[in-house]
Amino acid sequence: MSATVLAGAPAALVLLEEARRRAAALPVQPHLHLIRAGSDPASLSYVRGKDRQARLTGLRSTVHALPQDVPLPELLALLARLSADPEAHGILVQLPLPAHLPPAAVQAATDPRKDVDGFHPLNVGCLWAGQPGLAPCTALGILALLRHHQVPLAGRTAVVVGRSPVVGRPVAGLLLAADATVTVAHRHTPALSRLTRQADVLIVAAGQPHLVTAHMVQPGATVVDVGIHRLPGAGGQFVLTGDVHPEVAQVAGALSPVPGGVGPMTVAQLLLNTVQAAETQLG
Ligand code: GUN
Repeated sequence: MSATVLAGAPAALVLLEEARRRAAALPVQPHLHLIRAGSDPASLSYVRGKDRQARLTGLRSTVHALPQDVPLPELLALLARLSADPEAHGILVQLPLPAHLPPAAVQAATDPRKDVDGFHPLNVGCLWAGQPGLAPCTALGILALLRHHQVPLAGRTAVVVGRSPVVGRPVAGLLLAADATVTVAHRHTPALSRLTRQADVLIVAAGQPHLVTAHMVQPGATVVDVGIHRLPGAGGQFVLTGDVHPEVAQVAGALSPVPGGVGPMTVAQLLLNTVQAAETQLG
């Protein structure tokens, strides 16, 4: 039997429609500022996609393209200016940053009310304290995808593989807030498969291609693959794949695959976060 596919595109459309409706109800157009440094091709492409989707959804969007060697004080000054600007509602600094720019210092320099990535320590604290705030987009997108496909969470055993500040940690916090019993595994976890086989809901964000194979999954479990890798394929082409081996579809009850799964939820959730930030600032 093959798993039900938890498709991301239709779930993302619902979020985008909500963002459009709530943006249109505001007295001013929510304005998102996207900042990137350097010319990492993946970052360029992600920022272009966010900018495009923001405009298509009825938001204002401005891209700040900084040179690879931008001095830290210059980036901090831009963040201070945008944080103080009442016409800027959302601020995002695309990761990864060039090595000389410490992410923690950069993330702490954004007004937490405009921190649409949810990376400011105040927002991280609110997430873990179960208080309202802005939470990271991919983690929120995973929860929205599960909700869209009516996957129950309360009282269920959730295992998160990966503990990054971008996905693993925040998704664990959101699953906990949704009343799941949550375990976080990482590279030092012994006997990973013993743990993953206990999961009713398995979220894999480890950054390792095909880390999770069929024998690591409880039959009937819901599996969300958050990895994204370009592996060499036939004829010099690349194939997109995730942290979950495709054979898992034969064991899982439901699977969010790569590609086709959670991908578009991140941008949709970013725009919803921007609208939420604008509502807070304008309210
Ligand atoms: N790079 C990869 N994922 C993300 C994300 O969610 N936000 C930012 N700012 N950069 C990223």
